[in-house]
Amino acid sequence: MSNTVLITGASGGIGKELATVFASHGHDLILTARNRHRLDALCKALHMRYGIRATAIPADLSEDGAAERLVRDIEHRGLQVDILVNNAGFGDHCLFAESDSGKQEAMIRLNVLALTSLTRAVLPAMMRRRRGRVLNVASIASFLPGPYMAVYYATKAYVLSLSQALAAELKPYGITVTALCPGLVDTGFEKTADLEKTALFKTLPVSDPAAVAKYGYRITMCGNSVGVHGIPYKAMAFASRLAPRDLLARIILSIQSGRRSISISKRSDRYE
Ligand SMILES: NC(=O)c1ccc[n+]([C@@H]2O[C@H](COP(=O)([O-])OP(=O)(O)OC[C@H]3O[C@@H](n4cnc5c(N)ncnc54)[C@H](OP(=O)(O)O)[C@@H]3O)[C@@H](O)[C@H]2O)c1
Repeated sequence: MSNTVLITGASGGIGKELATVFASHGHDLILTARNRHRLDALCKALHMRYGIRATAIPADLSEDGAAERLVRDIEHRGLQVDILVNNAGFGDHCLFAESDSGKQEAMIRLNVLALTSLTRAVLPAMMRRRRGRVLNVASIASFLPGPYMAVYYATKAYVLSLSQALAAELKPYGITVTALCPGLVDTGFEKTADLEKTALFKTLPVSDPAAVAKYGYRITMCGNSVGVHGIPYKAMAFASRLAPRDLLARIILSIQSGRRSISISKRSDRYE
C-alpha cells in the first residue's frame, strides 16, 4: 500500500535526501520548506524518476500557527499523512548572552514548536487508522550540553525526549515514533549555524546526507525509537551516559569555541 509522507525542510540537505529515499521506495510525498522553487523542482524530479505523486506546499514553519495552517491545507487538498518526517531545523553558533534573540526564538519555534504542533495535528487521524509513523530528526546534540550552541542543543534534547515518550505512548495504537540522531552532516547546516568559523566540521567525522537519510528510512520502517548514525557518534552517545555532564560541557566548549578564528575574532579574549 502506498503511503503519503509529509517531510519538512525538504528543499535541501537531509530533508531532500529523505524525500529521495522515501520516493525510491514508492511513497507519495508532501514536501514543505520556505523555498518554493527548490520544492517544485524536487517534486518534479522525483515524480519523473520514481512515478510517485509529489506535492509542494511552501511554508515558513517558524511563523505562529504555520504548522496548523499546513495541516489544514493538506486536508483541503484531500491528502492524508501516513508518515510525518519532522526534519526542518537550524542551529546558531554564538555566545548566548550576545545572541540574536529573534534568531534564537525562531529556532525554538521551528525546532520545537512546529515539530510538536505538526505531530499533535497528525496523530488523531493516525490513531483512528491504528497505523502511522513519525520520524523526528534530532541530533547527537540531543545527548549533550552545547556551549556556544546552547539553545540548539537544548532544542534537540527536547526532540529526543518527546520522541521517546511518544514512542511508548503510541505503541498500543500501532504508531511508531523514531528519533534520528545524526552526527555532523555535509549540508547547509554549517553555514546557517555560522559554524564555519569553528573547527567543528574539521575536527569530527562528517557524514554524507544521503547515507544519513537511508539510515533514517531504515530505522523508521523498523519502528526503532532511537537511532544514532555512524559508529563514532554511537560511541559518543554511549559515552555521554557515563561521563559527568559538566565534563561533557567543557569538552564541547573547547570543540565549539571558534579556535580557528581566535586570531581574527573581535571576541577572541572571551573564547579563550
Ligand atoms: N547537518 C548537520 O550536521 C546536522 C546534524 C545533526 C542534526 N541535524 C538536523 O538535521 C535537520 C536538517 O538539517 P540539514 O543539516 O539538512 O540543514 P539544511 O541543509 O540547512 O536544511 C534545513 C532545511 O530546513 C528548512 N528550513 C529552515 N528554516 C525553515 C523554516 N523557518 N520553515 C520551514 N523550513 C525551514 C530549509 O529550507 P528553506 O530554507 O527552503 O526553508 C531546509 O530545507 C535539522 O533539524 C538539523 O538540526 C543536522
